[in-house]
Amino acid sequence: MSNYHIKHLEEYFQVYRKSVRNPELFWSEIAEEHFLWRKKWDNVLDWDFSKPEVKWFDGAKLNITENCIDRHLYVRGDKTAILFEPNNPEEAAEHITYNQLHERVCKFANVLKTKGVKKGDRVCIYLPMIPELAISVLACARIGAIHSVIFAGFSATALATRVNDCEAKMIITSDGSYRGSKTIDLKGIVDEAVEQCPGVESVLVAKRINTDVKMKSGRDEWLQPLLDKADANCIPEVMDAEDPLFILYTSGSTGKPKGMMHTTGGYMVYTAFTFKNVFQYREDDIYWCTADIGWITGHSYIVYGPLANGATTVMFEGVPSYPDYGRFWDIVQKHKITQFYTAPTAIRALAKENLDYVTKYDLSSLKVLGTVGEPINEEAWHWYNDHVGQKDCPIVDTWWQTETGGILISPIPFATPTKPTYATLPMPGIQPTLMDESGNEIIGNQVEGRLCIKFPWPSIARTIWGDHNRYRDTYFSAFKNKYFTGDGALRDEVGYYRITGRVDDVIIVSGHNLGTAPIEDAINEHPAVAESAIVGFPHDIKGNALYGFVILKETGESRDRDNLSKEVNQQITERIGPIAKLDKIQFVPGLPKTRSGKIMRRILRKIASNDTSDLGDISTLLNPEIVEEIIDELAFVTPVKK
Ligand code: WT7
Repeated sequence: MSNYHIKHLEEYFQVYRKSVRNPELFWSEIAEEHFLWRKKWDNVLDWDFSKPEVKWFDGAKLNITENCIDRHLYVRGDKTAILFEPNNPEEAAEHITYNQLHERVCKFANVLKTKGVKKGDRVCIYLPMIPELAISVLACARIGAIHSVIFAGFSATALATRVNDCEAKMIITSDGSYRGSKTIDLKGIVDEAVEQCPGVESVLVAKRINTDVKMKSGRDEWLQPLLDKADANCIPEVMDAEDPLFILYTSGSTGKPKGMMHTTGGYMVYTAFTFKNVFQYREDDIYWCTADIGWITGHSYIVYGPLANGATTVMFEGVPSYPDYGRFWDIVQKHKITQFYTAPTAIRALAKENLDYVTKYDLSSLKVLGTVGEPINEEAWHWYNDHVGQKDCPIVDTWWQTETGGILISPIPFATPTKPTYATLPMPGIQPTLMDESGNEIIGNQVEGRLCIKFPWPSIARTIWGDHNRYRDTYFSAFKNKYFTGDGALRDEVGYYRITGRVDDVIIVSGHNLGTAPIEDAINEHPAVAESAIVGFPHDIKGNALYGFVILKETGESRDRDNLSKEVNQQITERIGPIAKLDKIQFVPGLPKTRSGKIMRRILRKIASNDTSDLGDISTLLNPEIVEEIIDELAFVTPVKK
């Protein structure tokens, strides 16, 4: 029996039991058999959630790029490591082999060295989804510099806040980026940001859109001439397993963004192990995750996890709607994608369009489909299953967080029977539990509570950069000796988990706890509805009442809004009960979303409460203009007629 590659359900249960009975033995066997260490660990695990402190493989020495690149050269040097699909479908895709990746990472690492970057220094990377992004990440890891990738959709202010927080001395960027039919002036944004960043000594600029950008002498340099001069070999820096690998910012419910710090050895072992199992990866597969490397999904499941397994990982520069809504499926057909991993928000957006965009492509290469980032509603799940997977591809609904480093709860395809909207079972080594509001563990099945994890896993973030107290307060103080995820979940009759959403999205109506996700599911089942979001607003009698923001499939919908509202409530009554009926419904053209596709409920709650004087910071929204549009219509919203 292999602990590393689980192939059927019985094996999953055996491996899971072993991982819980003896976590140290379990992870050390995997670490030993499947990775390259310069020196073995002294201790597999030291932990204390009250401090909190977690150390995996302490005393071990390694370099993660040796594991992700060098060790593959002997066996698969000419295999494609990174398959780059440009924004413009007319531009040729680029196949970067493991040999070429090695050379490009080494050269980049040597450039960093000549610019004075040393082990432990922070380097911010603000690049579009072009090969230089993955290569610069790996180049930092090669020399032991700590990378902090900042999604290239963030504003200058957001960029500056993060650069200053981690005190980066260098920013790597490009002249600009392509996004569908538009271009974005990234270098201009960096220039604006750096004015507020006194610690930044140098800015390296990759050429992508060939615009004429201003270069500040003594600070800015074009990357290519430096690479041309650089040596093609760079001896990897030998790192401790617990040395920081990267910092990645995630927004908190309050305050400034949290710089989640991940370390080297445990992160590598866990992301590689979960990649192999959750995607049932095999040597000749062509794996595609549509996320941006600016998010944790891209770090763990575009770069490190796939490369540690010697996989071919696709990087897509563009957007799902360019040149038309068939682009994803065009790419699946073109590169014969075997595993496809995306977000529910993308699925819903594509499901709104004509089905011809899907059916005209040959999707028969697909074996496994994945989703991540938010609960997937039933309607979207079925659309994905029926039309993309053609009822022949298991869907892995993967639940995890920036903080967890890797996937914690997910089906294992062909082993775990899937169930729509359920992330199902914990990965080996993961011990989830549900807690009630008074801090007691909820035992048994068919229960609901706050999702916590009882035992450390190798890729848990070790701290918030520069603020260990905040790390402790945010994750380890709500429930003693447990990591609190901030999510609510239910456990069904067989022990499957369904993530119901952030616990702050729970709305108590007349003393009843109502989760927004199931109500939204019910509404979305109405044939005229494309998407919806529910928030609570204060109500004299019920405490809270429900307010629904509903997007219709056809804009300019001529049907009677009053009737539609009634039908929506009818639907909810049938699915959940009259208690979950909405008091108000507003038909809106869109919903305010963050750049990672999450609905900003904070804003919707304010709008629903008619408290629009101070909406807080909306600059990180993908579509800030929608907020005005929704507010403008507010006066016309009347209670739903009975
Ligand atoms: C939050 C973490 C993990 C990479 C992308 C998001 C929600 C994530 C699921 C899922 C339901 C999910 C949770 C979680 N979430 N995956 N499969 N089902 N909810 O990372 O930005 O750190 O967000 O996303 O609420 O806490 P993130």
